Amino acid sequence: MPQSPVIRKVGLAVVLAVAAWAGSGALGFPRVFQVMFATYVALGLAVFLLLDAPPMPRLSGRAAVAALVGFYLALSVVYIGGASLLPQYDPAVEKGKIEKILKRKRDRALADRRATAALLARVGQLQAQSDHLATQLARFAPAGTPMADRMTGMAPDAPAERLTVTERGAEVYELYECYNCHKIGGKGSVKKRGPVLDNIGGLLTINDIRKKILDPAYLYAEGFEKEHKKGRMPDKYRDLMTEDEVLSLATYLSTLKNPAVDTPRPVFVRADVQHGFTVFGYVRDAAGAGVPGVEVRAAPMVKGGHAASGTTNDGGYYEIFLHMHNENAGATVAVSARGVTKKFVAEYDPGDATTRRQQSVDLTVADPARA
Ligand code: HEC
Repeated sequence: MPQSPVIRKVGLAVVLAVAAWAGSGALGFPRVFQVMFATYVALGLAVFLLLDAPPMPRLSGRAAVAALVGFYLALSVVYIGGASLLPQYDPAVEKGKIEKILKRKRDRALADRRATAALLARVGQLQAQSDHLATQLARFAPAGTPMADRMTGMAPDAPAERLTVTERGAEVYELYECYNCHKIGGKGSVKKRGPVLDNIGGLLTINDIRKKILDPAYLYAEGFEKEHKKGRMPDKYRDLMTEDEVLSLATYLSTLKNPAVDTPRPVFVRADVQHGFTVFGYVRDAAGAGVPGVEVRAAPMVKGGHAASGTTNDGGYYEIFLHMHNENAGATVAVSARGVTKKFVAEYDPGDATTRRQQSVDLTVADPARA
């Protein structure tokens, strides 16, 4: 019975293959390994079957060479075919898997960073919106208040620091290095690059100083025509300064009123200076602090002259616009607040179209709490 050992071996191999498959599966081996174990069993069976096979006839000469080559080719086909059928270890695939894990982590970190950036941007937007709203609200200030008043009125509560607007303005002056060309109190520009500013508050309103900073072509200092034509004063502040900085700076400069220092007269090249007359200045208490909310009245003492009034802002600053005509030149104007009156003569040349018709008048009033 030459058949029976072969059948037995095949039967045994099938049992072993099933056991190997089930066993490795139960132990948690991946499917690839189960296939591999079953394949080993099959290969073992093949070896035993070969051992039992009847001997081959002896080959020689050309037949032997052909058989050798044929066997080699057959083996090659089995190996290559098997290798391509079985799943292979691929470093690129493994790297891809690691990359995937890392990518997820990196993405999460990146998303976190983006979310933070988005939040910061949103904060900036909200800030800009609230600034804009504050500006809009400032427009609803009582009518008749000059523009600069309304704006400076809201300035003090902007930053958290406890500096007055004037102190902040002095800081802005330092920060933007105006002293490179200007002199205040004998300090600053050694060469005479630009005018001294010691009495600039007596010559310009807050709003005109503000306009000069934002647009140097707005007016020029008498005696500095050449420098003005060459555009020596930088026109970059419009882009660099916040509105709050410009106002603080203008407010600081508006407090400089030292007539002993010869500050060049401003010449207006763009504004229409003929229309009306502006009275401006500060109302202060005995201690020198600006008094807010004081009504100031200016009255030209001529027949048919129209008096007008204004209210001081948080810094004690006021501006009053008077309807005075060319023929009113030389009229005396009385400025009064809380029973204190100062008079000045409104002198202007009706033919002069470049000098602003205005006068700075500061008043010192009694503190109502003590009066
Ligand atoms: C590079 C030099 C330079 C710098 C910096 C400079 N200015 Fe001037 N400024 C001038 C010159 C020159 C003039 C005179 C010519 C003119 O009015 O255009 C002038 C004129 C002025 C006037 C008019 C003065 C008057 O008597 O009418 C004011 C106000 C003024 N500057 C303010 C400032 C402020 C505030 C800063 C800082 C933010 C500043 N300047 C920075 C050169 C400069």
